[in-house]
Amino acid sequence: MQQSADINRRIAQISSHINPPINQGCKYCVFLKVEEGNLWRSDCRAKGGSPGFKVAILGAAGGIGQPLAMLMKMNPLVSVLHLYDVVNSPGVTADISHMDTGAVVRGFLGQNQLEDALTGMDLVIIPAGVPRKPGMTRDDLFNINAGIVKTISEGIAKCCPKAIVNLISNPVNSTVPIAAEVFKKAGTYDPRRLLGVTMLDVVRANTFVAEVLGLDPREVSVPVVGGHAGVTILPLLSQVKPACSFTKEETEYLTSRIQNGGTEVVEAKAGAGSATLSMAYAAVKFADACLRGLRGDAGVIECAFVTELPFFASRVRLGRSGVEEIYPLGPLNEYERVGLEKAKKELGGSIDKGVSFAKK
Ligand SMILES: NC(=O)c1ccc[n+]([C@@H]2O[C@H](COP(=O)([O-])OP(=O)(O)OC[C@H]3O[C@@H](n4cnc5c(N)ncnc54)[C@H](O)[C@@H]3O)[C@@H](O)[C@H]2O)c1
Repeated sequence: MQQSADINRRIAQISSHINPPINQGCKYCVFLKVEEGNLWRSDCRAKGGSPGFKVAILGAAGGIGQPLAMLMKMNPLVSVLHLYDVVNSPGVTADISHMDTGAVVRGFLGQNQLEDALTGMDLVIIPAGVPRKPGMTRDDLFNINAGIVKTISEGIAKCCPKAIVNLISNPVNSTVPIAAEVFKKAGTYDPRRLLGVTMLDVVRANTFVAEVLGLDPREVSVPVVGGHAGVTILPLLSQVKPACSFTKEETEYLTSRIQNGGTEVVEAKAGAGSATLSMAYAAVKFADACLRGLRGDAGVIECAFVTELPFFASRVRLGRSGVEEIYPLGPLNEYERVGLEKAKKELGGSIDKGVSFAKK
């Protein structure tokens, strides 16, 4: 008798781990129940985690969100990690929370938990929204993602107006202007704190340029300016470090491959989405730079889509209040000057589209 009671208790214990009850008393979704003793997560002695920053990922259950959440859980600068999505965030949270790194992980599901997910955050990373399928441009995502970004931005304005925002959802050239308009309307707009993530363009540029030059990509640094779609992605190959020169053919090949890197992945995935793993890597690289800036590290310089000039991806210096300096483009060659004119023309239309959507 005693033996079968023990077995039943063990089975119940194991099944509560495999399929933890959600939202039963614990605000943060996932709770721990040990035997009959009812030990709740909130009763555990360890509550704090390591010192560091509070980071929220919105869209955390998606193709980018999941590896991004995993990599941010590994980041020693993060003390609290909030994972928000409209689906599946409890599962992702339970999974990630078992990693034995410093950050405490909490999950939030559905719009009525958006405010809890955002309250007190230092950095909010947004990969929420639909990705491209073959044949689509980033602009084709506008109708769905514009509304998602608007709602999320309203939440940020209300709950963590001082947070640094890393906006990944496409079309970045329009979603960043939408967020800016929402913040302006709420009276919380600070151009230093709203950043469109164009890091993947830089990561790709470093990789492709390193391939052509036969170098280690970690030694290569390519500034990529403009925006994050097609011809608005403008790699400045004349400013590559280490200093080098390219033939006309190499310049054309590299510019085209960098501008179409996203489409290369969308086509290879054949309907199963767009870049997720390299994007998560790039997002973490960028988020880490933002956190190092917040910590007060000197000389943190990256490319990002910023909301001044009026909107343009530039090399920026990140610091305690976000973007502390926007660097000028520097000397451009003829090929880059022509590219810049094309980029500006297309960018203008995408910015206007975002601004007028948000003003509706
Ligand atoms: N900036 C870049 O360089 C870059 C690169 C790749 C992809 N992207 C963009 O990132 C976005 C996400 O791509 P993905 O591959 O992860 O897509 P995905 O569909 O795999 O994941 C998106 C996630 O967002 C969630 N979501 C939808 N509506 C939401 C809402 N209102 N609030 C919170 N979460 C919501 C979904 O449930 C899903 O889990 C897309 O817009 C894609 O185009 C940007």
